[in-house]
Amino acid sequence: MKIQFAPLNIPLERRLQTGAVLQWIFSFIMLAKLWFGIFVILVYKNYWFIYIPYLTWLYFDWKTPELGGRRSDWVRNWTIWKHFRNYFPIHLVKTVDLDPSHNYIFGFHPHGVLVAGAFGNFCTDHSDFKELFPGFTTYLHTFHFWFGCPFFREYFMSCGAVPVTKSSVSHVLSKEEGGNISVIVLGGAEESLYAYPGNFTLCITQRKGFIKMALTHGAYLVPVFSFGENDLFYQVNNPEGSWLRSAQKKMLQILGFTVPLFYGRGVFQYSFGLMPYRKPIHTVVGQPIPVQQTPHPTQEQIDQLHQTYLEELRNLFEMNKSKYGISEQETLVFK
Ligand SMILES: *[C@@H]1O[C@H](CO)[C@@H](O)[C@H](O)[C@H]1NC(C)=O
Ligand SMILES: *[C@@H]1O[C@H](CO)[C@@H](O)[C@H](O)[C@H]1NC(C)=O
Ligand SMILES: *[C@@H]1O[C@H](CO)[C@@H](O)[C@H](O)[C@H]1NC(C)=O
Ligand SMILES: *[C@@H]1O[C@H](CO)[C@@H](O)[C@H](O)[C@H]1NC(C)=O
Repeated sequence: MKIQFAPLNIPLERRLQTGAVLQWIFSFIMLAKLWFGIFVILVYKNYWFIYIPYLTWLYFDWKTPELGGRRSDWVRNWTIWKHFRNYFPIHLVKTVDLDPSHNYIFGFHPHGVLVAGAFGNFCTDHSDFKELFPGFTTYLHTFHFWFGCPFFREYFMSCGAVPVTKSSVSHVLSKEEGGNISVIVLGGAEESLYAYPGNFTLCITQRKGFIKMALTHGAYLVPVFSFGENDLFYQVNNPEGSWLRSAQKKMLQILGFTVPLFYGRGVFQYSFGLMPYRKPIHTVVGQPIPVQQTPHPTQEQIDQLHQTYLEELRNLFEMNKSKYGISEQETLVFK
């Protein structure tokens, strides 16, 4: 293999961008585990004066993630997020204005390997979100496991992340005055196993919990498609039926999450590594589907709204795909 090295005269701006992405990869893949390790060492070394206060804090703070979390405008405003966004770069595209007197559920597709678009757009204040959709607060719902990781949970919550549990989504959507948006990556970890460049498989046919949430709270549904999200990494081939795919699925069943074996470029060379490629992401926010509040929706109502959502999502993809270089014959595959 011929290694393609990065040139030496890269402008400072680009170096900062690479650094920002490196920090992000590191903190979201390794930090959770690293902090867990640090915590184990603290207990093992019997540094009780650190871990006892922290455990006490954790005890009293255990419910916070479910109650809207603890966002920090300071963390969300860090300049590092601006560099992060400009690395790809990440763009947010508005189709229509949203009315801040309603609450919304944004269905975010596709998951991609690391959900870079959802993070860049909705977990930092360096995206176009504030200008495009003034008067809204976004919450990114993610796997609840992260909120049990010592220290990491504080960092994650400060960006506006909350768990993807019923009570957490309810909390965000229950404010009568509106203005809140629950961003849910509907395909979940399962969808990350399809995150290949040029693949448009979405795991959505069995997922209806968000529809029930929308109905019970009268939250409007908005399909959001992130063009380019799957182009950031390659992953080790795991076709349906391969041992790798089976192992990944087993892991998902047992642990609730799974790991795509992804690879991209490196920091100093472009041939291999765990850094994403510099490819633009265009996150298009579609048209809202109005939802009448229905405290006790029937299965029929749920199925019907689910169907409408899938149609709107397909419509959004079809009407916008040519603009982002996707050929005419490509379509979404719902699994
Ligand atoms: C974010 O940071 C900029 C400077 O980088 C500052 O002008 C702005 O007031 C900050 N916003 C908030 C909400 O702290
Ligand atoms: C959103 O929900 C929070 C509680 O999670 C609430 O305090 C706030 O008023 C709601 N609306 C906006 C616009 O933030
Ligand atoms: C997407 O991935 C799935 C599973 O690996 C495969 O069956 C399908 O053919 C792929 N589609 C495209 C367009 O590459
Ligand atoms: C993208 O799709 C939406 C449908 O949800 C449509 O309203 C909008 O006009 C499309 N954008 C372009 C540039 O075609």
